[in-house]
Amino acid sequence: MGHSIAKVCVLGAGTMGAGIAAQVANAGVPVLLLDRTTDGPDRSIIARSALERLGKAEPAAFMSKAAARLVEVGNFDDDLGRVAECDWVIEAIVEKIEAKHALYARLEDVRRAGTAVSSNTSTIPLERLIEGRSEAFAQDFLITHFFNPPRYMRLIEVVSGARSNPDLVAAVSAFADQRLGKSVVACKDRPGFIANRVGTFWLQSAVNAAFDLGLSVEDADAIAGKPMGVPKTGIFGLVDLVGLDLMPYLKASLTASLPKDDPYQAIARDEPLILKMIADGYTGRKGKGGFYRINREAGKVKEAIDLATGTYAKARKPMSIPAVAQKDLRALLALRGKAGAYAWAVLGPTLAYAAALVGEVADDVLAIDTAMKLGYNWKYGPFELIDRIGADEVAQRLEAEGHAVPPMLKLAAGRSFYRVEGGQRQFLGLDGEYHPVTRPEGVLLLEDVKAASKPLLKNGSAALWDIGDGVVCLEFTAKMNALDGEVMTLIAQSIALVQRHYKALVVYNEGSHFSAGANLGQALFALNIAAWGEVEKLVRGGQQAYKALKYAPFPVVAAPFGMALGGGCEIVLNSDAVQAHAETYIGLVECGVGLIPGWGGCGELIQRLSENPRLPKGPMPAVAKAFETISTATVAKSAAQAQEIGFLRPSDGITMNRDRLLADAKARALAMVEGYTPPERPLFRLPGAGGRAALDLAVQDFAAKGLATPYDTVVAGKLAHVLTGGDADMADGVSEAELLALEVEQFMALVRDVRTVARIETMLATGKPLRN
Ligand code: NAI
Repeated sequence: MGHSIAKVCVLGAGTMGAGIAAQVANAGVPVLLLDRTTDGPDRSIIARSALERLGKAEPAAFMSKAAARLVEVGNFDDDLGRVAECDWVIEAIVEKIEAKHALYARLEDVRRAGTAVSSNTSTIPLERLIEGRSEAFAQDFLITHFFNPPRYMRLIEVVSGARSNPDLVAAVSAFADQRLGKSVVACKDRPGFIANRVGTFWLQSAVNAAFDLGLSVEDADAIAGKPMGVPKTGIFGLVDLVGLDLMPYLKASLTASLPKDDPYQAIARDEPLILKMIADGYTGRKGKGGFYRINREAGKVKEAIDLATGTYAKARKPMSIPAVAQKDLRALLALRGKAGAYAWAVLGPTLAYAAALVGEVADDVLAIDTAMKLGYNWKYGPFELIDRIGADEVAQRLEAEGHAVPPMLKLAAGRSFYRVEGGQRQFLGLDGEYHPVTRPEGVLLLEDVKAASKPLLKNGSAALWDIGDGVVCLEFTAKMNALDGEVMTLIAQSIALVQRHYKALVVYNEGSHFSAGANLGQALFALNIAAWGEVEKLVRGGQQAYKALKYAPFPVVAAPFGMALGGGCEIVLNSDAVQAHAETYIGLVECGVGLIPGWGGCGELIQRLSENPRLPKGPMPAVAKAFETISTATVAKSAAQAQEIGFLRPSDGITMNRDRLLADAKARALAMVEGYTPPERPLFRLPGAGGRAALDLAVQDFAAKGLATPYDTVVAGKLAHVLTGGDADMADGVSEAELLALEVEQFMALVRDVRTVARIETMLATGKPLRN
């Protein structure tokens, strides 16, 4: 195709442009970030300040320091000519058509023909953007609509025009998918594309209904949040997050550009209260607060606004929603009183609107569902929601209330939008037929494997799946993918099975996080009844299982993503190789609950750090670094950072697109099969008692400065004991078995301390560490 993308230029260094530039850099691709020229000594101060802000953004925009160095800044007057160095130019300037037109006119003269130019516009149709441009420009032009924040939101909507070169669109889409990690959804050239079109309608319906039904914001968010599979911010919490001022802006833009008979026109309204809030600076979290605010004068009290009076009062506990209605949408909609009425007022019209848009904004229901799930963080897309309620029920209720029933909904009568047929997930097309849900090349989802097959092994906390080509996948299945004795049992069984019939094993799952670590609830139960034997069995059992994986005669590849903490980190450390999602937050956090890593994490981290060429040679540097990392419960904020810290090796792979993680991990495992030999057992050179004294001294120093609590020093002391090799004779080195025994010994000393029990209790109750 010839459209390889080696350098990118981003025009506009505002919220979106800067964030997009950071994500391009996160992919390891150099990027030129330009904005308006200013008078004064630094003519690129706008872009330069944006880069500075990026470095401090929370949540972080850059995945590593190395990525930050890939962004170069400049201005439109001195540097626009440098777009000729770039293969893709992304325009993300102010949403004003005249401004965009003016910039494109200048681009005509300086860009290389064949360089892709795309706009990040949220509302302006492509055909209007290219008015007045040359044929060559039109062929190279498309819309790439990122979501905010660009690093974390997985959706990118891509619109190509009638004249856009399909090869170029494909090349940009492939780059967005594989390098930037985005899920590409192709949209038609319609106002608001897919996600904002449906999302704005949804938010407007929900805000209207809360005012009309006289609902409190707390209750509205409790009903239209979690039970609907929407982030728990609900409606008003979400508007606070994105900014109240965005509502009238999107409304103005959509009402101006949508046809007069579009259902959105009928519901679009500006609430006087909301306009007043914006005028008074209550624009949400970025302003003085929004529907919710934190009242600092009253001592950090969370307050909510009364929609009827506009006054704030301490946020109340929302109405209680019965457990069935939390899980079952039909039960939620059937609730009596305001709760059921509100649920329907939010969902009914929104789902009908989404159904009416099939064919209009996208070719199929799949695109709309994907856009809402990835662009608005819905757990289920609109059509998956309809399936959960029943297409017939939705149609009947709409009809009963005098609403039009969209043809797509009628088409689904007596059926569902999705089904699994012969192990294949299928969706209902506009033609009334079912079509297979196909995945892009290089995407393998466990979800699909599970729909098509039965597990090879399974118990209450884990399962083993055949993912083809002789590779199996070990899946954790407990709540939060917590690890317990059952996981260890399944690992032992898996090893026996793979040895006989398979080539390699991948550790992977599709939960929200890879693993939150050992099941603390279970551990606490054992501690409370002083079942020390049970606890020790769990520690030793985990060590045995993990080491058996490490030394198994076949390759084991861990594929972490999201949080991989404590025992979840240790299984990664005990794997032969890692293929990590870029968004992996890995760490040995045991000290936070008064423990130390007990499943081999201590030795594995030391080993990785002693291989690290950036650390000075000798036993102490690696041990001191491991001590610092574990005692402060350091969690990497990305896979790249995990490599910097040392949890991952430089040779471990990083996958940007979450959907490609399993296929990449499988390929890595298969590449290791031929001639595979398990690693050799390490012999650790540790600093012994002298090293321990140095670490203890450092901890005392921390304690003196008030940075370590009394019990922190106790826990750190035990950790130092293990990491420095205990009382072993250092002359011969310390074997892996000896180090594991030290882990058990010191771990067991800690669990018998009531202060550890208190820490675990607090963590389970509040999710926060106790600083005792
Ligand atoms: P912003 O206001 O943060 O940044 C806009 C940038 O444009 C500024 O750095 C400014 O210096 C520059 N600019 C202003 N007037 C200009 C002119 N006449 N000529 C050239 N440059 C000019 O805007 P934001 O939010 O980053 O939006 C940029 C684009 O991305 C817009 O098209 C917007 O619709 C779109 N978008 C915004 C999203 C959001 O959540 N903020 C989400 C998705 C798309």
